[in-house]
Amino acid sequence: MNELILGDCLEVLKTIEAESVDLVYLDPPFFSNRNYEVIWGDSGEMRSFQDRWSGGIDHYISWLKERVMEMHRVLKPTGSIFLHCDWHANAYIRVYILDKIFGERHFLNEIVWKRTTAHGNSKRLGRVYDTIFYYAKSTAHQYRNLTTDFSEQQLARYKQDEQGYYRAENLTSPGKARQFEWRGLWPGENRSWAYSLQQLEIFYEQGLILLQKDGRPRKDGLKKYLHDTAGAALQDLWTDLVLAPTNGERIGYPTQKPESLLKRIILCATDESNVVLDPFVGSGTTVVMAHKLNRSWLGIDQAETALKVSQQRLQQIGWANIKEAL
Ligand SMILES: C[S@@+](CC[C@H](N)C(=O)[O-])C[C@H]1O[C@@H](n2cnc3c(N)ncnc32)[C@H](O)[C@@H]1O
Repeated sequence: MNELILGDCLEVLKTIEAESVDLVYLDPPFFSNRNYEVIWGDSGEMRSFQDRWSGGIDHYISWLKERVMEMHRVLKPTGSIFLHCDWHANAYIRVYILDKIFGERHFLNEIVWKRTTAHGNSKRLGRVYDTIFYYAKSTAHQYRNLTTDFSEQQLARYKQDEQGYYRAENLTSPGKARQFEWRGLWPGENRSWAYSLQQLEIFYEQGLILLQKDGRPRKDGLKKYLHDTAGAALQDLWTDLVLAPTNGERIGYPTQKPESLLKRIILCATDESNVVLDPFVGSGTTVVMAHKLNRSWLGIDQAETALKVSQQRLQQIGWANIKEAL
């Protein structure tokens, strides 16, 4: 696959074989009633796309619905869709498009992605997040459990030594199952050692037991290192992937999304060599990340400038199959 295609995604989607795609990520116009324009580089070239809907929300929803129906068709039964939107139309999109086409029972998550830091506003709260709806084509959808790094708050509960971050855990538990003296210590009344004598000795020999001043073990002194612990399971609130205005990843395309966001989505929903499709590819973030992660990919956009930017980004990471026409 691995192709950038110029055109309205509706027409292009119709040419794609049914049940051939593992993941669709789409970041369509949001019904913002704005034109997005930026002046690009030293040449002053204008790059833009329109998000204006003269027929109002009904027009927008029927326009998008027609395209999402085709996306549903091309997804494999194990596939899934991530639809990126914001407050302008998210309520309509969930109820009138995704629930209708994919079915309420195939709703998986409403991901809240914090896209920017605080916004000052005198008459309402700052709007700092986008919504990403995650739906499966069927209950057989594939999902890879992801973990995230520990937050500063979580790390604060850990101490550090030359081996890394650790937390001290209790060596005893309630009950009387394992009451014996170990290195001059009893577990306590109605308490039991949580491990066998043999295991306690292994911990001791491995230097995993903190000691009291008198040299005896501490009952709450079992060192558990962070690097031996799985990260925190990924939740649906993503506050750690803001693309700062000064980030070197920015190429000047309005509405460009961070690579880290697409990386997370692609890793959640696909395996290597699976097929990733972005029908509104813009500056190419999805296909760049799919390429880096060894997935097959297809990017569609009706704007030639978008495909040129995507092509440049792909070239920078070694994609050689460039069509002269772009
Ligand atoms: C919000 S931007 C996508 C940004 C992208 N996710 C990124 O990281 O750069 C939406 C894109 O959809 C394109 N677009 C709008 N209507 C389209 C259509 N009918 N078919 C294909 N592309 C379309 C626009 O040209 C624009 O590049």
